[in-house]
Amino acid sequence: MKRVRKCVFPVAGMGSRFLPATKASPKEMMPVVDKPLIQYAVEEAVEAGITDMIFITGRNKRTIEDHFDKAYEVEAELAARGKLELLELVQTVVPSRINCIYIRQPEPLGLGHAVLCAEPVVYDEPFAIILADDLIDAAPPVISQMVKVYEQHQCSVLGVEEVPRENTRQYGIVKTDGSEPGVVSAMIEKPLPKDAPSTLAVVGRYILNPRIFHHLAGVQAGAGGEIQLTDGIVALMREEKVLAYRFQGKRYDCGSKLGYLKATVEYGKKHPETGAAFSAYLKSL
Ligand code: G1P
Repeated sequence: MKRVRKCVFPVAGMGSRFLPATKASPKEMMPVVDKPLIQYAVEEAVEAGITDMIFITGRNKRTIEDHFDKAYEVEAELAARGKLELLELVQTVVPSRINCIYIRQPEPLGLGHAVLCAEPVVYDEPFAIILADDLIDAAPPVISQMVKVYEQHQCSVLGVEEVPRENTRQYGIVKTDGSEPGVVSAMIEKPLPKDAPSTLAVVGRYILNPRIFHHLAGVQAGAGGEIQLTDGIVALMREEKVLAYRFQGKRYDCGSKLGYLKATVEYGKKHPETGAAFSAYLKSL
Protein backbone atom coordinates (compact mmCIF):
# COMPACT_ATOMS: atom_id res chain seq x y z
CA MET A 1 0.00 0.00 0.00
CA LYS A 2 1.25 3.45 -0.87
CA ARG A 3 1.52 5.96 1.97
CA VAL A 4 -0.10 9.41 1.80
CA ARG A 5 2.96 11.66 1.47
CA LYS A 6 1.58 14.57 -0.53
CA CYS A 7 -0.97 17.26 0.18
CA VAL A 8 -2.50 19.70 -2.28
CA PHE A 9 -3.51 23.17 -1.09
CA PRO A 10 -5.61 25.03 -3.66
CA VAL A 11 -4.84 28.68 -2.90
CA ALA A 12 -5.64 30.43 -6.14
CA GLY A 13 -9.11 31.66 -5.14
CA MET A 14 -10.09 35.27 -5.29
CA GLY A 15 -11.33 35.59 -1.69
CA SER A 16 -14.02 37.98 -2.83
CA ARG A 17 -15.96 37.64 0.43
CA PHE A 18 -13.08 39.33 2.25
CA LEU A 19 -12.43 42.24 -0.07
CA PRO A 20 -10.81 44.68 0.43
CA ALA A 21 -8.60 42.62 2.84
CA THR A 22 -7.86 40.20 -0.01
CA LYS A 23 -7.25 42.83 -2.67
CA ALA A 24 -3.47 42.34 -2.65
CA SER A 25 -2.92 39.20 -0.57
CA PRO A 26 -4.52 35.76 -0.63
CA LYS A 27 -7.30 34.90 1.80
CA GLU A 28 -5.22 31.96 3.04
CA MET A 29 -2.79 34.49 4.56
CA MET A 30 -5.47 35.95 6.83
CA PRO A 31 -4.42 35.29 10.42
CA VAL A 32 -6.44 33.62 13.14
CA VAL A 33 -4.85 35.23 16.20
CA ASP A 34 -1.19 35.03 15.08
CA LYS A 35 -0.96 32.37 12.38
CA PRO A 36 -2.22 32.56 8.81
CA LEU A 37 -4.88 30.03 7.80
CA ILE A 38 -2.47 28.32 5.40
CA GLN A 39 -0.02 27.64 8.23
CA TYR A 40 -2.70 25.85 10.27
CA ALA A 41 -3.38 23.75 7.15
CA VAL A 42 0.29 22.89 6.56
CA GLU A 43 0.76 22.02 10.25
CA GLU A 44 -2.20 19.65 9.98
CA ALA A 45 -0.58 17.89 7.01
CA VAL A 46 2.82 17.71 8.74
CA GLU A 47 1.22 16.07 11.79
CA ALA A 48 -0.25 13.42 9.50
CA GLY A 49 3.25 12.51 8.29
CA ILE A 50 2.88 14.30 4.94
CA THR A 51 6.17 15.63 3.56
CA ASP A 52 5.34 17.25 0.20
CA MET A 53 3.19 20.37 0.29
CA ILE A 54 1.87 21.28 -3.15
CA PHE A 55 0.36 24.75 -3.42
CA ILE A 56 -1.81 25.52 -6.42
CA THR A 57 -1.40 29.23 -6.68
CA GLY A 58 -2.81 32.03 -8.75
CA ARG A 59 -2.63 35.77 -8.41
CA ASN A 60 -0.87 37.18 -5.34
CA LYS A 61 0.99 33.94 -4.66
CA ARG A 62 4.15 35.69 -3.45
CA THR A 63 3.23 36.09 0.21
CA ILE A 64 2.51 32.36 0.57
CA GLU A 65 5.86 31.43 -0.98
CA ASP A 66 7.62 33.95 1.24
CA HIS A 67 5.83 32.69 4.33
CA PHE A 68 7.18 29.17 3.82
CA ASP A 69 10.69 30.33 2.95
CA LYS A 70 13.66 31.59 4.89
CA ALA A 71 13.25 35.27 5.86
CA TYR A 72 16.84 36.51 6.01
CA GLU A 73 16.13 40.10 7.02
CA VAL A 74 13.62 39.29 9.75
CA GLU A 75 15.80 36.48 11.08
CA ALA A 76 18.98 38.61 11.13
CA GLU A 77 17.13 41.42 12.88
CA LEU A 78 15.65 39.14 15.55
CA ALA A 79 19.05 37.48 16.12
CA ALA A 80 20.75 40.87 16.45
CA ARG A 81 18.18 41.97 19.03
CA GLY A 82 18.51 38.69 20.95
CA LYS A 83 14.84 37.83 20.42
CA LEU A 84 15.51 34.13 20.25
CA GLU A 85 12.02 32.85 20.97
CA LEU A 86 10.59 34.88 18.11
CA LEU A 87 13.48 33.79 15.91
CA GLU A 88 12.62 30.15 16.55
CA LEU A 89 8.95 30.85 15.83
CA VAL A 90 9.87 32.27 12.43
CA GLN A 91 12.37 29.55 11.61
CA THR A 92 10.02 26.68 12.43
CA VAL A 93 7.17 27.80 10.17
CA VAL A 94 8.42 25.08 7.84
CA PRO A 95 9.76 22.06 9.72
CA SER A 96 12.87 20.45 8.27
CA ARG A 97 12.49 17.75 5.63
CA ILE A 98 9.32 19.35 4.24
CA ASN A 99 9.20 20.18 0.53
CA CYS A 100 7.11 23.12 -0.63
CA ILE A 101 6.16 22.94 -4.29
CA TYR A 102 4.30 25.69 -6.13
CA ILE A 103 2.25 25.19 -9.26
CA ARG A 104 0.56 28.06 -10.98
CA GLN A 105 -3.06 27.59 -12.05
CA PRO A 106 -3.10 29.69 -15.19
CA GLU A 107 -6.83 30.42 -15.12
CA PRO A 108 -9.37 30.26 -12.29
CA LEU A 109 -11.37 27.40 -13.83
CA GLY A 110 -12.55 25.81 -10.57
CA LEU A 111 -11.45 23.54 -7.72
CA GLY A 112 -11.40 20.43 -9.92
CA HIS A 113 -9.09 22.16 -12.37
CA ALA A 114 -6.84 23.38 -9.54
CA VAL A 115 -6.47 19.80 -8.26
CA LEU A 116 -5.76 18.54 -11.79
CA CYS A 117 -2.85 21.02 -11.96
CA ALA A 118 -1.15 18.90 -9.23
CA GLU A 119 -1.07 15.75 -11.38
CA PRO A 120 2.54 16.09 -12.65
CA VAL A 121 3.77 16.22 -9.05
CA VAL A 122 1.37 13.79 -7.36
CA TYR A 123 1.50 11.35 -10.29
CA ASP A 124 0.48 7.87 -9.09
CA GLU A 125 0.23 8.30 -5.32
CA PRO A 126 -2.78 8.73 -3.04
CA PHE A 127 -2.85 12.34 -1.80
CA ALA A 128 -4.61 14.66 0.60
CA ILE A 129 -6.34 17.95 -0.18
CA ILE A 130 -6.83 20.63 2.44
CA LEU A 131 -8.92 23.74 1.82
CA ALA A 132 -7.31 26.15 4.25
CA ASP A 133 -10.43 28.25 4.76
CA ASP A 134 -12.09 25.28 6.48
CA LEU A 135 -10.19 25.56 9.76
CA ILE A 136 -10.84 22.50 11.93
CA ASP A 137 -9.89 22.33 15.59
CA ALA A 138 -9.33 18.63 16.24
CA ALA A 139 -7.00 16.26 18.07
CA PRO A 140 -5.73 14.30 16.29
CA PRO A 141 -6.05 16.63 13.29
CA VAL A 142 -8.65 15.66 10.71
CA ILE A 143 -6.18 14.63 7.99
CA SER A 144 -4.51 12.25 10.48
CA GLN A 145 -7.92 10.75 11.26
CA MET A 146 -8.60 10.36 7.54
CA VAL A 147 -5.20 8.82 6.73
CA LYS A 148 -6.09 6.12 9.27
CA VAL A 149 -9.40 5.48 7.51
CA TYR A 150 -7.60 5.39 4.16
CA GLU A 151 -5.09 2.86 5.51
CA GLN A 152 -7.87 0.64 6.86
CA HIS A 153 -10.06 0.69 3.76
CA GLN A 154 -7.58 1.56 0.99
CA CYS A 155 -9.93 3.84 -0.91
CA SER A 156 -10.66 7.55 -1.27
CA VAL A 157 -12.08 9.29 1.82
CA LEU A 158 -14.07 12.54 2.06
CA GLY A 159 -14.32 14.50 5.33
CA VAL A 160 -18.00 15.24 6.01
CA GLU A 161 -20.26 16.84 8.59
CA GLU A 162 -23.96 17.54 9.01
CA VAL A 163 -25.08 21.04 7.97
CA PRO A 164 -28.48 22.77 8.27
CA ARG A 165 -30.60 21.98 5.19
CA GLU A 166 -30.88 25.67 4.31
CA ASN A 167 -27.09 25.72 3.79
CA THR A 168 -26.74 22.88 1.25
CA ARG A 169 -26.09 25.43 -1.52
CA GLN A 170 -22.67 26.11 -0.04
CA TYR A 171 -21.35 22.55 -0.22
CA GLY A 172 -20.89 19.31 -2.05
CA ILE A 173 -23.57 17.08 -0.49
CA VAL A 174 -23.23 13.29 -0.34
CA LYS A 175 -25.60 10.39 0.04
CA THR A 176 -24.19 7.33 1.79
CA ASP A 177 -25.33 3.82 2.66
CA GLY A 178 -25.52 4.90 6.33
CA SER A 179 -22.56 2.88 7.56
CA GLU A 180 -19.61 4.56 9.35
CA PRO A 181 -17.61 5.51 7.38
CA GLY A 182 -20.35 5.49 4.76
CA VAL A 183 -20.00 4.33 1.18
CA VAL A 184 -20.87 7.32 -1.03
CA SER A 185 -23.60 6.54 -3.56
CA ALA A 186 -24.32 10.08 -4.79
CA MET A 187 -22.72 13.51 -4.59
CA ILE A 188 -24.10 16.83 -5.82
CA GLU A 189 -22.29 20.16 -5.86
CA LYS A 190 -24.19 22.96 -4.14
CA PRO A 191 -27.75 21.60 -4.50
CA LEU A 192 -30.84 23.59 -3.54
CA PRO A 193 -32.15 22.42 -0.14
CA LYS A 194 -35.04 20.64 -1.85
CA ASP A 195 -32.72 18.75 -4.21
CA ALA A 196 -30.06 17.81 -1.63
CA PRO A 197 -29.78 14.01 -1.24
CA SER A 198 -29.00 14.49 2.48
CA THR A 199 -27.55 17.14 4.79
CA LEU A 200 -24.10 15.55 4.91
CA ALA A 201 -21.65 18.09 3.49
CA VAL A 202 -18.11 17.58 2.27
CA VAL A 203 -15.88 20.09 3.98
CA GLY A 204 -12.36 20.91 2.89
CA ARG A 205 -10.62 17.60 3.60
CA TYR A 206 -10.09 14.82 1.06
CA ILE A 207 -7.85 11.81 0.54
CA LEU A 208 -8.05 10.71 -3.05
CA ASN A 209 -6.67 7.94 -5.19
CA PRO A 210 -4.64 9.28 -8.14
CA ARG A 211 -7.22 7.79 -10.51
CA ILE A 212 -9.16 11.04 -9.81
CA PHE A 213 -6.88 12.82 -12.32
CA HIS A 214 -8.13 10.64 -15.15
CA HIS A 215 -11.70 11.65 -14.33
CA LEU A 216 -10.94 15.33 -13.73
CA ALA A 217 -9.34 15.53 -17.15
CA GLY A 218 -12.72 14.63 -18.67
CA VAL A 219 -14.95 16.81 -16.48
CA GLN A 220 -16.88 19.63 -18.16
CA ALA A 221 -17.76 22.89 -16.42
CA GLY A 222 -20.53 22.21 -13.89
CA ALA A 223 -22.08 24.19 -11.02
CA GLY A 224 -21.18 27.89 -11.26
CA GLY A 225 -19.59 27.31 -14.70
CA GLU A 226 -16.52 25.77 -13.01
CA ILE A 227 -14.70 22.46 -13.31
CA GLN A 228 -15.83 20.92 -10.04
CA LEU A 229 -13.87 18.45 -7.95
CA THR A 230 -17.25 16.99 -6.97
CA ASP A 231 -17.95 15.94 -10.57
CA GLY A 232 -14.57 14.17 -10.76
CA ILE A 233 -15.35 12.34 -7.52
CA VAL A 234 -18.77 11.27 -8.89
CA ALA A 235 -17.01 9.69 -11.87
CA LEU A 236 -14.44 8.02 -9.57
CA MET A 237 -17.25 6.70 -7.36
CA ARG A 238 -18.76 4.82 -10.29
CA GLU A 239 -15.50 2.93 -10.68
CA GLU A 240 -14.34 2.36 -7.11
CA LYS A 241 -15.45 2.77 -3.50
CA VAL A 242 -15.37 6.28 -2.02
CA LEU A 243 -16.01 6.71 1.71
CA ALA A 244 -17.52 9.62 3.64
CA TYR A 245 -15.99 9.98 7.09
CA ARG A 246 -17.60 12.05 9.86
CA PHE A 247 -14.53 13.52 11.49
CA GLN A 248 -14.14 14.41 15.17
CA GLY A 249 -13.51 18.14 15.56
CA LYS A 250 -15.00 21.61 15.32
CA ARG A 251 -14.98 23.32 11.95
CA TYR A 252 -14.91 27.05 11.34
CA ASP A 253 -15.90 28.26 7.89
CA CYS A 254 -13.19 30.90 7.58
CA GLY A 255 -14.34 31.55 4.02
CA SER A 256 -17.20 33.54 5.57
CA LYS A 257 -16.92 36.59 7.80
CA LEU A 258 -19.02 35.07 10.57
CA GLY A 259 -17.07 31.79 10.62
CA TYR A 260 -13.79 33.69 10.59
CA LEU A 261 -14.88 35.85 13.52
CA LYS A 262 -16.00 32.77 15.48
CA ALA A 263 -12.60 31.13 14.89
CA THR A 264 -10.79 34.29 15.95
CA VAL A 265 -12.77 34.50 19.20
CA GLU A 266 -12.42 30.82 20.09
CA TYR A 267 -8.74 30.50 19.16
CA GLY A 268 -8.12 33.81 20.94
CA LYS A 269 -9.72 32.46 24.12
CA LYS A 270 -7.46 29.40 23.99
CA HIS A 271 -4.25 31.18 23.08
CA PRO A 272 -1.56 30.63 25.78
CA GLU A 273 -0.45 34.26 25.71
CA THR A 274 -3.71 36.17 25.45
CA GLY A 275 -6.39 33.61 26.37
CA ALA A 276 -7.04 34.58 29.99
CA ALA A 277 -7.07 38.34 29.40
CA PHE A 278 -9.17 37.98 26.24
CA SER A 279 -11.73 35.76 27.99
CA ALA A 280 -12.00 38.30 30.82
CA TYR A 281 -12.43 41.09 28.27
CA LEU A 282 -15.22 39.18 26.48
CA LYS A 283 -17.04 38.67 29.79
CA SER A 284 -16.77 42.38 30.51
CA LEU A 285 -18.49 43.37 27.27
C1 G1P B 1 -15.71 23.66 -2.23
C2 G1P B 1 -16.24 22.38 -2.87
C3 G1P B 1 -17.47 21.87 -2.10
C4 G1P B 1 -17.13 21.71 -0.63
C5 G1P B 1 -16.58 23.04 -0.07
C6 G1P B 1 -16.10 22.85 1.36
O1 G1P B 1 -16.64 24.70 -2.45
O2 G1P B 1 -16.56 22.64 -4.22
O3 G1P B 1 -17.89 20.64 -2.64
O4 G1P B 1 -18.27 21.30 0.09
O5 G1P B 1 -15.47 23.50 -0.85
O6 G1P B 1 -15.70 24.06 1.92
P1 G1P B 1 -16.23 26.27 -2.26
O7 G1P B 1 -16.33 26.53 -0.78
O8 G1P B 1 -14.85 26.41 -2.78
O9 G1P B 1 -17.25 27.04 -3.03
